Amino acid sequence: MLELAPSLLSANFYNLKEDLSKLKKTDVKYIHLDVMDGNFVPNISFGPGLIKSLRPYTDLIFDTHLMIENPEKYVEDFVNCGSDIITFHLEATKHPHSLVQKIKSYGKKAGISLNPSSLEQDLVYLLEDLDLVLVMSVNPGFGGQKFIDSQLNKIENLRKIKEEKNYNYIIEVDGGIKSTNVTKAIESGAELIVSGSDVFKAEDLIDRVNEYYDIFKR
Ligand code: DX5
Ligand code: ZN
Repeated sequence: MLELAPSLLSANFYNLKEDLSKLKKTDVKYIHLDVMDGNFVPNISFGPGLIKSLRPYTDLIFDTHLMIENPEKYVEDFVNCGSDIITFHLEATKHPHSLVQKIKSYGKKAGISLNPSSLEQDLVYLLEDLDLVLVMSVNPGFGGQKFIDSQLNKIENLRKIKEEKNYNYIIEVDGGIKSTNVTKAIESGAELIVSGSDVFKAEDLIDRVNEYYDIFKR
């Protein structure tokens, strides 16, 4: 699979309904929802309230990326607001294995994200249970940062392990992706591509999304 998950973080929050209806005219199936608590990351974004209010307006797959400390405390909230995938940071909890089981017990897909400095080897006892691994290609907290090239190696390693062990997780990449640099992430093995500022700050959102899907078809 190769899909785009536009990150709502870079959208104008006054215009969300309009942006969602534009996305409806494209091939996009996922929307990436960045939740920040001002503690795990030095920024505050939005929480389950906003996500819940979007849910009636779209059938897009809600790909919720929790950049919050102690995510285990808030799982029910992110289940109840309509998330389809719930991804937390390995660095943010002491019991990642049990949190994966908890997310799955609600019938939701479970993902784990790694900061740029974290090792994919630390996921070795978790990978068989994961639906998704999110490789951060910037330090989490803000849109519009520069892609960190060293993360391509992490993506490649995760692809190798996935192939060797026949695991099911989707490899997602997040941060600094543009239509002009997405090819290197795809070549390394990324399957679900998050793009925030490049999509929502584009002159024409629909054209930009189509540009990605043209690249995906090559
Ligand atoms: C960063 C977030 C990203 C962000 C990506 O902490 O996790 O999802 O919105 O934005 P761009 O694509 O602008 O780097
Ligand atoms: Zn994100």
